[in-house]
Amino acid sequence: MNIQNILVTGGAGFIGSEVIRQLVTLENTNVINLDKLTYAGNLENLKSVESNSNYTFVKGDICDESLLKELFKTHKISKVIHLAAESHVDRSINDPLLFVRTNLIGTATLLNVAKSSWEGDYINKVFYHISTDEVYGSLNFGNDLFKETTSYDPRSPYSASKAGSDHLVRSFFHTYGFPILISNCSNNYGPYQFPEKLVPLCINNILNKKPLPIYGKGENIRDWLYVSDHADAILTILKNGQIGETYNIGGNNEWSNLDLVKVICKTMDLKLNRPEGDSEKLITFVQDRAGHDLRYAIDSSKIQKELGWTPSLQFEDGLKLTVDWYLQETEWLRNVSSGEYKSYYKNQYG
Ligand code: NAD
Ligand code: DAU
Repeated sequence: MNIQNILVTGGAGFIGSEVIRQLVTLENTNVINLDKLTYAGNLENLKSVESNSNYTFVKGDICDESLLKELFKTHKISKVIHLAAESHVDRSINDPLLFVRTNLIGTATLLNVAKSSWEGDYINKVFYHISTDEVYGSLNFGNDLFKETTSYDPRSPYSASKAGSDHLVRSFFHTYGFPILISNCSNNYGPYQFPEKLVPLCINNILNKKPLPIYGKGENIRDWLYVSDHADAILTILKNGQIGETYNIGGNNEWSNLDLVKVICKTMDLKLNRPEGDSEKLITFVQDRAGHDLRYAIDSSKIQKELGWTPSLQFEDGLKLTVDWYLQETEWLRNVSSGEYKSYYKNQYG
């Protein structure tokens, strides 16, 4: 029997918690979640799995070398899905060094410990780095798409730190034959996303009748993918991806920010029984994000052709599921907005 002991970093975050919810259902799989519980990490996201016998939570930092060494030894880690990161572009503009510390130093530390712990025995081992389409830079309006072969051109401290971490991971493959996988995904949306990101921010603000801040003219374009489809792609790559390869993941679902916010407004008006057009009145144009990338769009034909993955949800359905979730989980939203959720884990983990 081949047991896989998977270290998931950043598993208390938005995407990591969905990856864990899916992983714990797999046979012969133990999941060890290492998370520092920054403002973005929330153990309430993992309530549905916390008593599973194949799930363990460890509070800690990916920069902590001795903790990492201990974890690899104690849990006989054979696979790593590395999601822990500072993830918000606006925060990276205010505090770039934090992004360098977590995303670059943290990834380098984790890589180094995995390499020394596995001692050159790479059979059934893999270090899978979860990255972003933002490493490729910005596209003009039109039909161009980011491919796996597109040159890197990161333009924010966040995307530069993610690009650097991708390079480090790839360098371990080329230099040491270390077994790696990388995927670069477009914008995720769905349940449990911290309400600093555009979609949950708008849902939360519409609920509370607060302004919906649109940077610049709202013409910037993003490609949106439902979070469980991203997690499904991650599990597919983990299982069948070719070691050393990179896979782009996208929803083939481009929206300008203004159009996206208008659709959210419409959906919310219907759900809240508010008159049509009510929420759109909250739209407020504000100063543009510094260095705001114009357009991201992904060519995900490689993962589709080679691994047979495609998104399962239409955007309209994903958005309705998302809105329904936030309307139902008012306590989650209230706790996260007020910072109250910290008390949930502080009670347990100090
Ligand atoms: P998130 O901000 O919701 O979660 C990040 C998690 O990492 C949190 O639980 C946080 O506590 C943890 N963390 C931060 N610093 C840590 C440290 N030093 N040690 C241990 N844990 C730490 O992020 P997310 O949106 O779930 O993104 C997860 C990953 O996916 C990131 O690497 C991000 O770059 C990548 N990604 C995100 C998107 C997206 O749209 N959200 C798209 C593509 C790729
Ligand atoms: O493309 C993948 C990336 O998507 C991930 O790597 C990042 O971790 C994730 O945060 C996300 O980055 P974005 O910057 O695209 O996401 P955000 O939700 O912050 O912004 C989406 C778009 O909406 C972007 O063009 C900026 C704009 N925006 C954002 C906010 C928060 C606004 O107009 N107003 C806002 O208040």
